[in-house]
Amino acid sequence: EKKGGPIVDTKELVGEDLKDLKNNIRNLLGTGHPMLDTVSKYYFQADGKHIRPLIILLIAQATSLAPKKVHVRIKDSYEEIDTPISELSNFHIPTLNSNNNNNINNSTYTPRIHEPDQSYILPSQRRLGEIVEMIHTASLLHDDVIDLADKRRNLPSANETFGNKMAVLGGDFLLARASIALARLRNHEVTELISTVIANLVEGEFMQLRNGQVENGRNRSNNGRMTTFEYYMEKTYMKTASLISKSCRSSAVLGGASDEVCDIAYTYGKNIGLAFQLVDDMLDFTVSSEELGKPAGADLKLGLATAPVLFAWEEYPELGKLIKRNFDQEGDVGTAWNLVLKSQGLEQTRRLAQSHCQKAIAAISQLPDSQAKMALIQLTEMALVRKK
Ligand code: FPP
Ligand code: MG
Ligand code: MG
Repeated sequence: EKKGGPIVDTKELVGEDLKDLKNNIRNLLGTGHPMLDTVSKYYFQADGKHIRPLIILLIAQATSLAPKKVHVRIKDSYEEIDTPISELSNFHIPTLNSNNNNNINNSTYTPRIHEPDQSYILPSQRRLGEIVEMIHTASLLHDDVIDLADKRRNLPSANETFGNKMAVLGGDFLLARASIALARLRNHEVTELISTVIANLVEGEFMQLRNGQVENGRNRSNNGRMTTFEYYMEKTYMKTASLISKSCRSSAVLGGASDEVCDIAYTYGKNIGLAFQLVDDMLDFTVSSEELGKPAGADLKLGLATAPVLFAWEEYPELGKLIKRNFDQEGDVGTAWNLVLKSQGLEQTRRLAQSHCQKAIAAISQLPDSQAKMALIQLTEMALVRKK
């Protein structure tokens, strides 16, 4: 073990489950049209980080040892009862006998001795990881069209290679096939959660389009309901954290976890998602395109004032008018860039990301100890120090 290296090897924990991810996705994407086939599979040939499926699988393992929703038969109906989290110190945790999520109401319950190495991942949770990676990739296909990006994962972007029309349709196709796979999970709660994510992605992207609509420090888009910073954080939730948080909750739901455990999974996902995007917005200023594998310094050019700029604005009020006009005048991008680098903005952004990581750790720490839980804690640190 090299110094400062990972304590828990996530590859060892979920590597086997992740290995088939790309192949399974390819199978979900088969179509008779060769060109559509090529476009929709295009971003899967590069080495993605698969961070969302990884988190989903680790949540599956970490929550498999936590309290379950138990179903008790009362007269002719079934009632759902949560095992309270306070019983975590009790080593006899009731678990489902059957791994089949469809038969949840027919299962009988036997207490099982809780041992860390007894954690498990259900096939439905693995499938959830594939569905979520497909939705994420669909959003990237559309995002690269909107952002006029020429590069993604060190490859020419899909829009660059196939043109805007095919890139958009390829994304639509991914969404459609993800929806079919989602329906086949036969879980209404998860269907609702993941469908909401798709709406949130679009809402986040729309909020971002309106980010320059600033007046007296508030964003005009929602009748001035939010300050510019609140608006940015809400946009960030919609664009990035919604997917991760609702995926984490869905993973716990598929595992039959109690409401309290589902909430813990959600809170973890929400906060690591927010941290993840804050770091992304920071890296746009600090890392080169070569290192990122996608255009760097892109946000200002796209007219976007992210956290580093909003913090810098407090130090340099002259940034206000540039933000309002979406940095669209000659020299605006360069001026804003220099002010951000001179300001505390990047450091403040890092600190905010760190505080969300701490919230994620506080949430996940409530689960019983396991390797997966350790890995999830470790991931928050990696989210913070990552360079791409
Ligand atoms: C990447 O952000 C983009 C997103 C996280 C979401 C994009 C969502 C849409 C385009 C709405 C349509 C959604 C679907 C599901 C088809 P970025 O541009 O800040 O990051 P980048 O540097 O990786 O491009
Ligand atoms: Mg974008
Ligand atoms: Mg983009």
